[in-house]
Amino acid sequence: MRIQKTEVRLKIIFNYTILFLACIIISVITTINLMEEIAPMLNRIHTQAQVGCNGHVELCDRRYSNITQIATHDSAFVGILPTDDQDVDVVAQLDAGVRFLQAQTHRNVFGTLSLCHTSCYLKDAGSVESYLQVVKGWLDTHPNEVLTLLLTNGDNVRVSEFDHIFTASGIQPYAYIPGPSHNASVLDSWPTLGELIGNGTRLVAFLDYGALDTVPYILPEFLYFWETPFDMTDPSFPQCIIDRPGGLAEDPALAYQRMYIINHYLDTEMLGMDIPDRRDARKTNAATGNDSIGAQVSLCQKEHGRAPKGILLDYFEKGNVLEVQDALNGFWNSIL
Ligand SMILES: *[C@@H]1O[C@H](CO)[C@@H](O)[C@H](O)[C@H]1NC(C)=O
Ligand SMILES: *[C@@H]1O[C@H](CO)[C@@H](O)[C@H](O)[C@H]1NC(C)=O
Ligand SMILES: *[C@@H]1O[C@H](CO)[C@@H](O)[C@H](O)[C@H]1NC(C)=O
Ligand SMILES: *[C@@H]1O[C@H](CO)[C@@H](O)[C@H](O)[C@H]1NC(C)=O
Repeated sequence: MRIQKTEVRLKIIFNYTILFLACIIISVITTINLMEEIAPMLNRIHTQAQVGCNGHVELCDRRYSNITQIATHDSAFVGILPTDDQDVDVVAQLDAGVRFLQAQTHRNVFGTLSLCHTSCYLKDAGSVESYLQVVKGWLDTHPNEVLTLLLTNGDNVRVSEFDHIFTASGIQPYAYIPGPSHNASVLDSWPTLGELIGNGTRLVAFLDYGALDTVPYILPEFLYFWETPFDMTDPSFPQCIIDRPGGLAEDPALAYQRMYIINHYLDTEMLGMDIPDRRDARKTNAATGNDSIGAQVSLCQKEHGRAPKGILLDYFEKGNVLEVQDALNGFWNSIL
């Protein structure tokens, strides 16, 4: 009887000990995972202290067109739903070192131009104006930083409406306006980061479709850039072809005078719809190896003789994306 009781007691103690140990192990693993993800970002925040231009003295004399920037694809869609492409908000993206933001615009049912994923019924991440206010606030407090903004115009809204919104948000005075000596077909006519910062024009804003000379600070994306195909579902990103603008691929000399953007974010199919592939993001966003950013960039450099200006990514905090940016800008020795 006594022995049995002791045995039961020992068993209970044993079970609780196992449970306790399991809890500790799970917490340790969770903490390590979290640190792994967040620590590099915090590191960046320290090293990105306001020195030089975009964190590097060497970049002050480098032309805007010759600097690679990691870009957050659908930067405003933050959360854990299938319609979300990022885990942290725009301010955290900027604080971590991202200097190129991309966002989709659509008109919602109230007529407000908003950041919506394909349709405002699927995801409405707020008005374009409030988004621009946030970005403007960040520019106010980071005087040595130059940002690129690429908006898409999904509902063919007139550029004059974008103009009103940029003006109302307060961000318009930051926007760079190409002067008469800036020829869109000559890469070297871009100013340096130092010149942009010196002039206070630290926002370079593009619209994919619908930009007009009447609003000279909203630049027509495809006059300055070409892009690789988007909505890719092949994890190996096996090519670096000129997808948009149409016809440019047939004119290599003209194409060579444009900056280019690679769409290195992976989609996967769910219920017949393409959604961002969160599960493979670490591999997709790795610096090197199969399916990595480095692998596609190498292919692009081989085919086009130059690094991409923009690398559009989902879940940018996964992988080693800012190391890639540094490597392509010449600050890391040989990871690529
Ligand atoms: C910048 O110029 C260097 C030297 O020509 C080149 O290797 C690099 O690919 C360029 N980067 C971009 C983004 O154009
Ligand atoms: C811009 O550059 C292109 C290519 O060099 C040239 O053909 C064109 O005449 C230039 N445009 C102006 C306005 O100088
Ligand atoms: C800087 O501003 C001056 C005066 O507005 C203008 O003439 C010049 O072209 C600007 N430089 C750049 C690089 O934008
Ligand atoms: C990368 O892919 C190639 C071809 O599919 C394969 O042979 C190789 O083992 C892969 N390497 C790694 C590290 O997975």
